[in-house]
Amino acid sequence: MKLVKRIANLGYGSRKEVALMFREGRITDPDGEVLYADDQVPHERIRIDGEPLDPPPGLVLMMNKPLGATCSRKDAGRVVYDLLPPRYRLRDPALSTVGRLDRDTSGLLLFTDDGALLHRIISPRSRVAKVYEATLAQDLRGDEGALFASGTMMLESEKEPLEPAALDVLAPRRVRLTLTEGRYHQVRRMFAAVGNHVETLARISVGALTMDGLGPGQWRALNAADVAQVFSAPPPADA
Ligand code: URA
Repeated sequence: MKLVKRIANLGYGSRKEVALMFREGRITDPDGEVLYADDQVPHERIRIDGEPLDPPPGLVLMMNKPLGATCSRKDAGRVVYDLLPPRYRLRDPALSTVGRLDRDTSGLLLFTDDGALLHRIISPRSRVAKVYEATLAQDLRGDEGALFASGTMMLESEKEPLEPAALDVLAPRRVRLTLTEGRYHQVRRMFAAVGNHVETLARISVGALTMDGLGPGQWRALNAADVAQVFSAPPPADA
């Protein structure tokens, strides 16, 4: 693919705007040598205004999603994409969230522009463990763990029972729930079905990948080893 298109697809501007950036000498190699639109240059040797290019397609990010932001690109309110550099919204292939977290859920959210990877992570067949911590409005009644683990629990208006889910009780109103699927508002609906109410909800890990020091609203790009962690077992509940 031509350099102009490759750079335009990263969201730096239209092809016309990127062509102008070349003419203005803003696109160089690491030594400051001006590059031309027809040059064949590896990604890592391209600088724009002296800065390395954003990562090429195949990008995977994780964010510590803050409360109050939604995952829909079209939402009028604050969206998770607002926390990324503005040009990330213009990338082609587009960067999407891997599943969604509710506006009132915080924690580990993945993004990728790799459709096959996205489907592999969210497919119930991959059994990627998503671990949530919740604060409940009422004390547990005692039978929730067995029901959630049963593989027969039905949520209202669903046709298939839930996959078995593991409940770890941290305190009478504080739990850790491990899911291997991601149905709509699943955690909140599971607790509503047992007469409780989720007051706070955060996702703390996806597979073995944890937030690892990222503060609310912070994000970072993942490397291949991080992505492999997604498909590994989560840390034990008492970690
Ligand atoms: N379950 C929910 O209820 N909400 C989320 O955001 C994620 C899982």
